[in-house]
Amino acid sequence: MVDEAGARTPRIIHPLYIRVTHWVNAVAIFVMVLSGWRIYNASPLFHFEFPAGFTLGGWLAGALAWHFAAMWLLALNGIAYLAYCVVSGHFRRRFLPISLRRALDDIILASQGRLDHAPGRYNAAQRLLYVGVILAVIVAVLSGLAIWKPVQLQALTALMGGYESARRVHFFAMAAIVAFLIVHIGLAVAVKGVLAPMFTGRAEAPR
Ligand code: HEM
Repeated sequence: MVDEAGARTPRIIHPLYIRVTHWVNAVAIFVMVLSGWRIYNASPLFHFEFPAGFTLGGWLAGALAWHFAAMWLLALNGIAYLAYCVVSGHFRRRFLPISLRRALDDIILASQGRLDHAPGRYNAAQRLLYVGVILAVIVAVLSGLAIWKPVQLQALTALMGGYESARRVHFFAMAAIVAFLIVHIGLAVAVKGVLAPMFTGRAEAPR
C-alpha cells in the first residue's frame, strides 16, 4: 500500500487462518509421503523401491501408524482450509479465473526471468498449480480411502476401477503432489520476498 507520503507500508497478504492451515498441511503431507514410500516398499507396484533413508516409520507397521495419524490431520485440516477458502471468498479472489493459455504465457515469462511476482496476488501459473495440487490431494485422499476400506467403501473402490487400479491412482496422485512440491519449494526459496510473508503474513503490497 502507498501512504500519503508516497511510502509503501506492509499489510497482511496471507491471513493467519491460511498460514496455519498451510503449514499444518505441509507437515501432514511430508509425513504422508515419506511413510507412504515405506508402505510402498513393502509391496512395490513398479520395478523400483524408494531409498530407505527417505522413508518414515522404519518398518511396515510403523509406517502405517504414521500414515494413518497424518491422514486424520490432513483430512481435518484440509476440510477446514477448503471450507474457509469457499466461505470467505478466498478461493474466488486468489485462484479464479483459471486460464491455461495465461498460465502457459506466465511459465514462458518465468523461464525467461521476466515474470513479476506481486505479493498477495497469484499469477496464472500459480493459480493453475495451486488448484491442481488441491485436486491431487483430494484424489489421493479418496483413493487412499478406497484402498483402506475396499469392502465398506466398495462403491468408491469400484469408481477407481477396483483395488489394484485404486493403488495406481493413489501412487500417481502422490507423484503429482511431489512434482508440485519440487517446483513450489524451489520457487518459494528462489523468488525474493515470497517465503517470509507465508510465516509473518505481512508484505509491502498494492491493495
Ligand atoms: C507440502 C505441501 C504443500 C502444499 C500442498 C502447498 C500448497 C500451497 C497452496 C495451495 C498455496 C496457496 C495458499 C492460499 O493462498 O490459499 C501455497 C502458498 C505458499 N506456499 Fe505452499 N504448499 C506446501 C508446502 C510448502 C512448503 C514446504 C513451502 C516452503 C518451503 C511453501 C511455501 C509457500 C509460499 C511461500 C506460499 C505463498 C506463495 C506466494 O505468496 O506467492 N509451501 N502453498
